Amino acid sequence: MKKFFVFAAVSVLVIAATYVSSCKDKKSETKADSKEDSAKQMIARGEYLTLHVVPCLDCHSKRDYSKFAGPIIPGTEGMGGEVFDNKLTPGMPGTVYAKNITPDDETGIGTWTDDEILRAVTQGISKKGDTLFPIMPYANFNHMAKEDLMSIIAYIRTLPPQSNEPPKSEPDFPMNFILNTLPHKAAGGIRPAVADQVAYGAYLSNAADCGVCHTKQEKRKITGEPFAGGFEFGFPGGSKACSANITPDKETGIGNWSEAAFINKFKQYADTNYQPVKLKPGDPQTVMPWAMYAGMDSTDLTAIYAYLKTIKPVNNKVEHWKPKE
Ligand code: HEC
Ligand code: HEC
Repeated sequence: MKKFFVFAAVSVLVIAATYVSSCKDKKSETKADSKEDSAKQMIARGEYLTLHVVPCLDCHSKRDYSKFAGPIIPGTEGMGGEVFDNKLTPGMPGTVYAKNITPDDETGIGTWTDDEILRAVTQGISKKGDTLFPIMPYANFNHMAKEDLMSIIAYIRTLPPQSNEPPKSEPDFPMNFILNTLPHKAAGGIRPAVADQVAYGAYLSNAADCGVCHTKQEKRKITGEPFAGGFEFGFPGGSKACSANITPDKETGIGNWSEAAFINKFKQYADTNYQPVKLKPGDPQTVMPWAMYAGMDSTDLTAIYAYLKTIKPVNNKVEHWKPKE
Protein backbone atom coordinates (compact mmCIF):
# COMPACT_ATOMS: atom_id res chain seq x y z
CA MET A 1 0.00 0.00 0.00
CA LYS A 2 2.67 2.44 1.12
CA LYS A 3 4.82 1.50 -1.87
CA PHE A 4 1.85 2.31 -4.09
CA PHE A 5 1.53 5.81 -2.71
CA VAL A 6 5.24 6.48 -3.00
CA PHE A 7 4.92 5.26 -6.55
CA ALA A 8 1.86 7.44 -7.11
CA ALA A 9 3.64 10.53 -5.81
CA VAL A 10 6.70 9.77 -7.86
CA SER A 11 4.57 9.23 -10.96
CA VAL A 12 3.01 12.66 -10.52
CA LEU A 13 6.52 14.06 -10.55
CA VAL A 14 7.40 11.95 -13.55
CA ILE A 15 4.33 13.15 -15.45
CA ALA A 16 5.06 16.74 -14.51
CA ALA A 17 8.67 16.36 -15.53
CA THR A 18 7.76 14.74 -18.85
CA TYR A 19 5.29 17.49 -19.60
CA VAL A 20 7.85 20.16 -18.93
CA SER A 21 10.52 18.39 -20.94
CA SER A 22 8.28 17.71 -23.93
CA CYS A 23 8.08 21.44 -24.68
CA LYS A 24 11.78 22.03 -24.21
CA ASP A 25 14.93 21.07 -26.04
CA LYS A 26 17.19 18.15 -25.20
CA LYS A 27 19.32 20.02 -22.69
CA SER A 28 16.43 20.81 -20.37
CA GLU A 29 15.20 17.24 -20.73
CA THR A 30 18.30 15.96 -18.94
CA LYS A 31 17.82 18.67 -16.37
CA ALA A 32 14.25 17.52 -15.75
CA ASP A 33 15.45 13.93 -15.53
CA SER A 34 18.03 14.72 -12.92
CA LYS A 35 15.51 16.78 -10.97
CA GLU A 36 13.14 13.85 -11.01
CA ASP A 37 15.95 11.51 -9.95
CA SER A 38 16.85 13.73 -7.05
CA ALA A 39 13.18 13.94 -5.97
CA LYS A 40 13.04 10.13 -6.07
CA GLN A 41 16.28 9.85 -4.14
CA MET A 42 15.02 12.30 -1.57
CA ILE A 43 11.82 10.33 -0.99
CA ALA A 44 13.79 7.07 -0.81
CA ARG A 45 16.16 8.55 1.78
CA GLY A 46 13.14 9.91 3.70
CA GLU A 47 11.44 6.53 3.58
CA TYR A 48 14.53 4.81 4.98
CA LEU A 49 14.95 7.37 7.75
CA THR A 50 11.26 7.41 8.69
CA LEU A 51 10.72 3.66 8.66
CA HIS A 52 14.00 2.58 10.24
CA VAL A 53 15.84 5.38 12.03
CA VAL A 54 13.68 8.31 13.18
CA PRO A 55 10.60 7.16 15.11
CA CYS A 56 8.10 9.74 13.72
CA LEU A 57 5.57 7.06 12.86
CA ASP A 58 6.03 5.15 16.11
CA CYS A 59 4.47 8.06 17.94
CA HIS A 60 2.21 9.36 15.19
CA SER A 61 0.43 6.03 14.42
CA LYS A 62 -1.68 3.57 16.34
CA ARG A 63 0.28 0.70 17.89
CA ASP A 64 -0.80 -2.84 18.69
CA TYR A 65 0.53 -3.51 22.19
CA SER A 66 -1.05 -6.97 22.27
CA LYS A 67 2.05 -7.92 20.25
CA PHE A 68 5.73 -7.72 21.16
CA ALA A 69 7.14 -4.16 20.90
CA GLY A 70 3.77 -2.74 19.76
CA PRO A 71 3.98 -2.87 15.95
CA ILE A 72 2.26 -0.05 14.04
CA ILE A 73 -1.26 -1.06 13.01
CA PRO A 74 -1.13 -1.13 9.19
CA GLY A 75 -3.19 1.66 7.65
CA THR A 76 -2.77 4.03 10.62
CA GLU A 77 0.66 5.38 9.61
CA GLY A 78 0.92 9.03 10.60
CA MET A 79 -2.74 9.51 11.53
CA GLY A 80 -1.96 10.25 15.18
CA GLY A 81 -1.96 7.70 17.90
CA GLU A 82 0.17 7.57 20.98
CA VAL A 83 -1.20 9.22 24.10
CA PHE A 84 1.30 10.49 26.66
CA ASP A 85 -0.22 10.66 30.13
CA ASN A 86 0.34 9.76 33.73
CA LYS A 87 -0.21 6.07 33.08
CA LEU A 88 2.59 5.84 30.52
CA THR A 89 5.08 8.02 32.39
CA PRO A 90 4.14 8.94 35.95
CA GLY A 91 4.32 12.65 36.71
CA MET A 92 3.43 13.63 33.16
CA PRO A 93 2.10 17.19 33.47
CA GLY A 94 -0.99 16.74 31.33
CA THR A 95 -2.26 14.56 28.53
CA VAL A 96 -0.61 14.96 25.17
CA TYR A 97 -1.78 13.40 21.92
CA ALA A 98 0.47 12.77 18.93
CA LYS A 99 -1.08 14.58 16.00
CA ASN A 100 -2.17 13.58 12.53
CA ILE A 101 0.85 14.18 10.28
CA THR A 102 -0.61 12.68 7.10
CA PRO A 103 -1.17 15.06 4.17
CA ASP A 104 -4.91 15.43 4.92
CA ASP A 105 -5.87 19.08 4.34
CA GLU A 106 -8.33 19.39 7.19
CA THR A 107 -7.03 17.22 10.03
CA GLY A 108 -3.42 16.63 8.99
CA ILE A 109 -0.58 18.72 7.61
CA GLY A 110 -1.77 18.84 4.00
CA THR A 111 -1.89 22.64 3.94
CA TRP A 112 1.37 23.18 5.84
CA THR A 113 4.35 24.40 3.86
CA ASP A 114 7.68 22.56 4.13
CA ASP A 115 9.03 25.42 6.21
CA GLU A 116 6.08 25.21 8.62
CA ILE A 117 6.63 21.47 9.07
CA LEU A 118 10.37 22.01 9.47
CA ARG A 119 9.73 24.64 12.13
CA ALA A 120 7.42 22.27 14.05
CA VAL A 121 9.91 19.42 13.81
CA THR A 122 13.02 21.37 14.79
CA GLN A 123 11.72 24.19 16.95
CA GLY A 124 8.45 22.88 18.30
CA ILE A 125 6.25 25.63 16.93
CA SER A 126 2.97 24.61 15.33
CA LYS A 127 1.50 26.25 12.22
CA LYS A 128 -0.71 28.34 14.48
CA GLY A 129 2.30 29.47 16.52
CA ASP A 130 1.67 27.36 19.66
CA THR A 131 4.60 25.67 21.37
CA LEU A 132 4.45 21.89 21.06
CA PHE A 133 4.84 19.79 24.16
CA PRO A 134 8.49 18.65 24.27
CA ILE A 135 7.47 14.96 24.19
CA MET A 136 7.71 15.67 20.50
CA PRO A 137 11.54 15.40 20.34
CA TYR A 138 12.22 18.65 18.48
CA ALA A 139 15.23 19.32 20.72
CA ASN A 140 16.80 16.24 19.11
CA PHE A 141 15.61 16.87 15.56
CA ASN A 142 17.03 20.37 15.86
CA HIS A 143 20.49 18.82 15.46
CA MET A 144 19.64 16.95 12.28
CA ALA A 145 20.86 18.05 8.87
CA LYS A 146 18.29 19.98 6.87
CA GLU A 147 18.61 17.61 3.90
CA ASP A 148 17.65 14.63 6.10
CA LEU A 149 14.69 16.50 7.57
CA MET A 150 13.50 17.64 4.14
CA SER A 151 13.71 14.02 2.95
CA ILE A 152 11.54 12.91 5.88
CA ILE A 153 9.04 15.65 5.08
CA ALA A 154 9.02 14.65 1.38
CA TYR A 155 8.32 11.05 2.40
CA ILE A 156 5.62 11.95 4.93
CA ARG A 157 3.84 13.85 2.18
CA THR A 158 3.52 10.55 0.27
CA LEU A 159 1.61 8.83 3.13
CA PRO A 160 -2.07 8.18 2.40
CA PRO A 161 -4.02 11.15 3.78
CA GLN A 162 -6.20 10.12 6.74
CA SER A 163 -9.06 12.11 8.16
CA ASN A 164 -8.53 11.91 11.90
CA GLU A 165 -8.47 14.61 14.52
CA PRO A 166 -6.76 13.51 17.76
CA PRO A 167 -8.04 15.34 20.86
CA LYS A 168 -6.34 18.61 21.77
CA SER A 169 -3.33 18.13 24.07
CA GLU A 170 -4.04 19.32 27.61
CA PRO A 171 -0.94 20.38 29.52
CA ASP A 172 -1.69 20.86 33.26
CA PHE A 173 -1.18 24.12 35.11
CA PRO A 174 1.53 25.53 35.26
CA MET A 175 2.91 23.58 32.28
CA ASN A 176 0.43 25.31 29.99
CA PHE A 177 2.14 28.61 30.80
CA ILE A 178 5.69 27.28 31.02
CA LEU A 179 5.33 25.79 27.52
CA ASN A 180 5.09 29.17 25.88
CA THR A 181 8.23 30.37 27.64
CA LEU A 182 10.38 27.52 26.33
CA PRO A 183 13.18 28.79 24.09
CA HIS A 184 13.05 27.95 20.39
CA LYS A 185 16.53 27.21 19.18
CA ALA A 186 17.38 27.98 15.58
CA ALA A 187 17.75 24.75 13.66
CA GLY A 188 20.91 23.66 11.98
CA GLY A 189 22.81 20.42 12.21
CA ILE A 190 25.21 18.78 9.84
CA ARG A 191 25.48 15.10 9.03
CA PRO A 192 29.03 13.92 9.71
CA ALA A 193 30.79 11.77 7.12
CA VAL A 194 30.00 8.06 7.43
CA ALA A 195 33.74 7.39 7.72
CA ASP A 196 33.77 9.39 10.94
CA GLN A 197 32.10 6.46 12.72
CA VAL A 198 31.76 7.93 16.20
CA ALA A 199 30.43 11.33 15.11
CA TYR A 200 28.13 9.71 12.56
CA GLY A 201 26.91 7.24 15.20
CA ALA A 202 26.22 10.11 17.59
CA TYR A 203 24.25 11.85 14.83
CA LEU A 204 22.15 8.73 14.18
CA SER A 205 21.65 7.95 17.85
CA ASN A 206 20.30 11.48 18.34
CA ALA A 207 18.00 11.23 15.31
CA ALA A 208 16.77 7.81 16.51
CA ASP A 209 16.05 9.15 20.01
CA CYS A 210 18.07 6.35 21.68
CA GLY A 211 19.16 8.67 24.48
CA VAL A 212 15.63 9.99 25.10
CA CYS A 213 14.41 6.59 26.30
CA HIS A 214 17.69 5.25 27.63
CA THR A 215 18.31 8.14 30.05
CA LYS A 216 16.25 7.94 33.22
CA GLN A 217 13.55 10.56 33.66
CA GLU A 218 11.19 10.96 36.56
CA LYS A 219 8.33 13.40 36.34
CA ARG A 220 9.75 14.46 32.97
CA LYS A 221 13.04 15.52 34.60
CA ILE A 222 16.30 13.81 33.69
CA THR A 223 17.50 12.07 36.84
CA GLY A 224 19.85 9.46 35.38
CA GLU A 225 23.21 9.37 33.64
CA PRO A 226 23.14 9.50 29.82
CA PHE A 227 22.30 6.08 28.31
CA ALA A 228 22.42 4.34 31.71
CA GLY A 229 18.77 3.25 31.44
CA GLY A 230 16.08 3.05 34.09
CA PHE A 231 13.35 5.15 32.42
CA GLU A 232 10.06 3.38 33.24
CA PHE A 233 7.12 3.06 30.87
CA GLY A 234 3.82 1.80 32.28
CA PHE A 235 1.40 -0.50 30.46
CA PRO A 236 -2.30 -0.81 31.17
CA GLY A 237 -2.69 -3.31 34.02
CA GLY A 238 0.31 -1.97 35.94
CA SER A 239 3.32 -3.75 34.39
CA LYS A 240 6.31 -1.66 33.34
CA ALA A 241 9.10 -1.75 30.79
CA CYS A 242 12.32 -0.17 31.93
CA SER A 243 14.96 1.03 29.47
CA ALA A 244 18.27 -0.85 29.45
CA ASN A 245 21.69 0.44 30.43
CA ILE A 246 23.45 0.78 27.06
CA THR A 247 26.63 2.43 28.35
CA PRO A 248 29.81 0.36 27.93
CA ASP A 249 29.78 -0.78 31.56
CA LYS A 250 30.94 -4.42 31.49
CA GLU A 251 28.77 -5.64 34.33
CA THR A 252 25.46 -3.82 33.87
CA GLY A 253 25.67 -2.27 30.39
CA ILE A 254 26.72 -3.49 26.94
CA GLY A 255 30.48 -3.37 27.65
CA ASN A 256 30.85 -7.08 26.91
CA TRP A 257 28.77 -7.05 23.74
CA SER A 258 30.70 -7.52 20.51
CA GLU A 259 29.74 -5.40 17.50
CA ALA A 260 28.23 -8.53 15.91
CA ALA A 261 26.15 -9.31 19.01
CA PHE A 262 24.83 -5.73 19.04
CA ILE A 263 23.85 -5.85 15.37
CA ASN A 264 22.32 -9.32 15.70
CA LYS A 265 20.20 -8.21 18.63
CA PHE A 266 18.46 -5.84 16.19
CA LYS A 267 18.64 -7.97 13.08
CA GLN A 268 16.76 -10.88 14.71
CA TYR A 269 13.62 -8.77 14.16
CA ALA A 270 14.49 -7.95 10.54
CA ASP A 271 13.98 -11.44 9.21
CA THR A 272 11.39 -11.19 6.44
CA ASN A 273 9.49 -13.97 8.19
CA TYR A 274 9.55 -12.15 11.52
CA GLN A 275 6.05 -11.69 12.87
CA PRO A 276 5.69 -9.85 16.17
CA VAL A 277 4.63 -12.38 18.79
CA LYS A 278 1.14 -12.11 20.25
CA LEU A 279 1.77 -11.75 23.98
CA LYS A 280 0.24 -13.92 26.65
CA PRO A 281 -0.68 -12.34 29.99
CA GLY A 282 2.52 -11.71 31.97
CA ASP A 283 4.89 -11.92 28.95
CA PRO A 284 7.53 -9.16 28.94
CA GLN A 285 6.56 -6.20 26.75
CA THR A 286 8.69 -3.27 25.62
CA VAL A 287 8.38 0.20 24.11
CA MET A 288 11.66 -0.16 22.23
CA PRO A 289 10.61 -0.25 18.55
CA TRP A 290 12.81 -3.24 17.72
CA ALA A 291 11.24 -4.17 14.38
CA MET A 292 11.59 -0.61 13.10
CA TYR A 293 15.27 -0.23 13.99
CA ALA A 294 15.93 -3.77 12.70
CA GLY A 295 15.65 -2.38 9.17
CA MET A 296 18.52 0.00 9.81
CA ASP A 297 21.55 -0.57 7.55
CA SER A 298 24.24 -2.55 9.33
CA THR A 299 26.69 0.28 8.63
CA ASP A 300 24.40 2.64 10.55
CA LEU A 301 24.00 0.21 13.46
CA THR A 302 27.79 -0.26 13.48
CA ALA A 303 28.25 3.52 13.78
CA ILE A 304 25.76 3.68 16.67
CA TYR A 305 27.67 0.86 18.37
CA ALA A 306 30.97 2.70 17.84
CA TYR A 307 29.44 5.81 19.39
CA LEU A 308 27.93 3.99 22.38
CA LYS A 309 31.36 2.50 23.12
CA THR A 310 32.69 6.04 23.69
CA ILE A 311 30.10 6.94 26.32
CA LYS A 312 31.07 7.05 29.98
CA PRO A 313 30.41 3.58 31.45
CA VAL A 314 27.87 3.73 34.27
CA ASN A 315 27.27 0.92 36.71
CA ASN A 316 23.50 0.73 36.95
CA LYS A 317 21.63 -2.54 37.07
CA VAL A 318 18.20 -2.38 35.49
CA GLU A 319 15.34 -4.90 35.38
CA HIS A 320 13.96 -4.49 31.85
CA TRP A 321 10.54 -5.75 32.79
CA LYS A 322 8.54 -5.29 35.96
CA PRO A 323 5.39 -7.37 36.12
CA LYS A 324 2.38 -5.91 37.88
CA GLU A 325 3.22 -5.25 41.54
C1 HEC B 1 8.15 10.53 21.09
C2 HEC B 1 7.01 10.73 20.23
C3 HEC B 1 7.14 11.56 18.98
C4 HEC B 1 8.07 11.42 17.97
C5 HEC B 1 9.22 10.45 17.88
C6 HEC B 1 7.71 12.40 16.96
N1 HEC B 1 6.61 13.11 17.36
FE1 HEC B 1 5.72 14.64 16.33
N2 HEC B 1 4.52 15.01 17.92
C7 HEC B 1 4.41 14.23 19.06
C8 HEC B 1 3.41 14.78 19.95
C9 HEC B 1 3.00 14.21 21.29
C10 HEC B 1 2.92 15.94 19.31
C11 HEC B 1 1.85 16.89 19.84
C12 HEC B 1 2.48 17.90 20.81
C13 HEC B 1 1.46 18.84 21.41
O1 HEC B 1 0.25 18.62 21.23
O2 HEC B 1 1.88 19.81 22.06
C14 HEC B 1 3.63 16.06 18.04
C15 HEC B 1 3.42 17.08 17.10
C16 HEC B 1 3.95 17.08 15.82
C17 HEC B 1 3.64 18.04 14.79
C18 HEC B 1 2.68 19.22 14.94
C19 HEC B 1 1.33 18.82 14.41
C20 HEC B 1 0.22 19.76 14.74
O3 HEC B 1 -0.87 19.54 14.20
O4 HEC B 1 0.40 20.68 15.55
C21 HEC B 1 4.33 17.68 13.66
C22 HEC B 1 4.31 18.35 12.31
C23 HEC B 1 5.08 16.49 14.00
N3 HEC B 1 4.85 16.17 15.32
C24 HEC B 1 5.89 15.80 13.11
C25 HEC B 1 6.80 14.81 13.50
C26 HEC B 1 7.83 14.28 12.63
C27 HEC B 1 8.01 14.63 11.18
C28 HEC B 1 8.57 13.41 13.39
C29 HEC B 1 9.82 12.67 13.01
C30 HEC B 1 10.88 13.50 12.46
C31 HEC B 1 7.95 13.36 14.71
N4 HEC B 1 6.89 14.23 14.73
C32 HEC B 1 8.38 12.57 15.76
C33 HEC B 1 5.15 13.09 19.33
C34 HEC B 1 6.23 12.63 18.59
C1 HEC C 1 10.73 4.35 23.11
C2 HEC C 1 11.85 4.10 23.98
C3 HEC C 1 13.12 3.51 23.40
C4 HEC C 1 13.85 3.97 22.34
C5 HEC C 1 13.51 5.13 21.41
C6 HEC C 1 15.03 3.15 22.27
N1 HEC C 1 15.00 2.19 23.23
FE1 HEC C 1 16.37 0.68 23.48
N2 HEC C 1 15.20 -0.14 24.94
C7 HEC C 1 14.08 0.45 25.49
C8 HEC C 1 13.57 -0.42 26.55
C9 HEC C 1 12.33 -0.15 27.39
C10 HEC C 1 14.44 -1.52 26.63
C11 HEC C 1 14.36 -2.71 27.61
C12 HEC C 1 13.39 -3.76 27.12
C13 HEC C 1 13.86 -4.40 25.86
O1 HEC C 1 14.91 -5.07 25.84
O2 HEC C 1 13.18 -4.19 24.84
C14 HEC C 1 15.45 -1.33 25.59
C15 HEC C 1 16.48 -2.22 25.30
C16 HEC C 1 17.55 -1.97 24.47
C17 HEC C 1 18.69 -2.84 24.28
C18 HEC C 1 18.86 -4.22 24.91
C19 HEC C 1 19.83 -4.14 26.03
C20 HEC C 1 19.96 -5.42 26.80
O3 HEC C 1 20.72 -5.41 27.77
O4 HEC C 1 19.29 -6.41 26.46
C21 HEC C 1 19.54 -2.21 23.41
C22 HEC C 1 20.88 -2.73 22.90
C23 HEC C 1 18.93 -0.95 23.06
N3 HEC C 1 17.72 -0.83 23.71
C24 HEC C 1 19.51 -0.01 22.23
C25 HEC C 1 18.82 1.10 21.72
C26 HEC C 1 19.34 1.95 20.66
C27 HEC C 1 20.69 1.82 20.03
C28 HEC C 1 18.35 2.86 20.39
C29 HEC C 1 18.32 3.90 19.30
C30 HEC C 1 18.58 3.40 17.96
C31 HEC C 1 17.23 2.59 21.30
N4 HEC C 1 17.56 1.51 22.08
C32 HEC C 1 16.05 3.32 21.32
C33 HEC C 1 13.47 1.62 25.07
C34 HEC C 1 13.85 2.37 23.97
